[in-house]
Amino acid sequence: MRKILITGSGGLIGSDLYAALCDRYGDANVVSSDVRHLHDVRQFEFLDIRDKERLRTLVEAYNVGTIYHLAGLLSAGGEKNPALAWDVNLNGLMHVLDTAREFNIRVFWPSSIAVYGLTTPKINVPQHTSFEPHTVYGITKSTGELLCQYYSHNYGVDVRSLRFPGINGWKGEPGDGTTEYAMHIFYGALRERRYECFLAPDTRLPMMYIDDAIRGTIELMEAPSEKLTVRTSYNFSAISFTPAELAAELRKLHPDFEITYKPDIRQEIAATWAQSIDDSIARRDWGWKEEYDLEKMTVALYNGIKGRIYHE
Ligand SMILES: NC(=O)c1ccc[n+]([C@@H]2O[C@H](COP(=O)([O-])OP(=O)(O)OC[C@H]3O[C@@H](n4cnc5c(N)ncnc54)[C@H](O)[C@@H]3O)[C@@H](O)[C@H]2O)c1
Repeated sequence: MRKILITGSGGLIGSDLYAALCDRYGDANVVSSDVRHLHDVRQFEFLDIRDKERLRTLVEAYNVGTIYHLAGLLSAGGEKNPALAWDVNLNGLMHVLDTAREFNIRVFWPSSIAVYGLTTPKINVPQHTSFEPHTVYGITKSTGELLCQYYSHNYGVDVRSLRFPGINGWKGEPGDGTTEYAMHIFYGALRERRYECFLAPDTRLPMMYIDDAIRGTIELMEAPSEKLTVRTSYNFSAISFTPAELAAELRKLHPDFEITYKPDIRQEIAATWAQSIDDSIARRDWGWKEEYDLEKMTVALYNGIKGRIYHE
């Protein structure tokens, strides 16, 4: 089989995706790459996605047939350095799409709920609607979606994409993203019995447990091409909740947990995003359905993060 290359493999999503792809296709078929060295993978290659020649070299050397392109800067990091976010997120994506065109490679690239802006409906966002993102991260994702559609329509590149909501997992380290309070809250509860949240208590955002996100990603990549009607990026959703609702759920497992709120710049970012999403086209085209609700996700994160902390 032609091999699978993951870019940005050391991140929150890449850690779980790597394990899932190895389980499914065998670790001899999965090549991990990142700008930080990863030690617990069978095949690792250093790859800065801004270096197109290095990408081409690896694609040829490993006979790559599929790329899961996860390398990128997220919302808070992008606001700190817009030029770098543009370079990594968009020039990096173009390098992947050009290489995919040259070597006939299937590509997965995640977009984000950050493509939505103040002119987007807040509730049940339709697949096709107004996109005027307010962050440079959202601008790179919105532009990237159009690039994917362009390469698909004009060059026949088989690129597939999902607008990820906030993804919550426990195997990778949470970063500084706007939705990532939903993981930091567990570290706070388990280490100090308290957490100061950087979003206001009633900030409702679309979220998903990582197992659902990984399964949905692989299902999309295995779906027959002719069934896919969206080549920008599919709306993709599971649950929506607020920090107060998550704290109440967490208290069922950890009754003495206390939460306080001190909104920072991420509150302004969150205010421009949608609260819930209509993903009926993904459900119709390739049969998407989530398995984790808020309660099930909370138990999974609590147990996973407890195990991590115990082994520190
Ligand atoms: N985590 C979420 O909730 C979420 C939501 C929507 C979309 N996404 C998208 O999913 C993808 C992965 O997100 P994540 O949460 O795993 O992010 P992450 O920050 O945990 O991981 C990103 C990885 O990319 C690597 N990277 C950064 N610059 C690079 C470069 N120049 N070349 C190669 N690698 C580089 C980093 O070292 C890191 O390991 C990103 O495209 C992100 O926009 C994530």
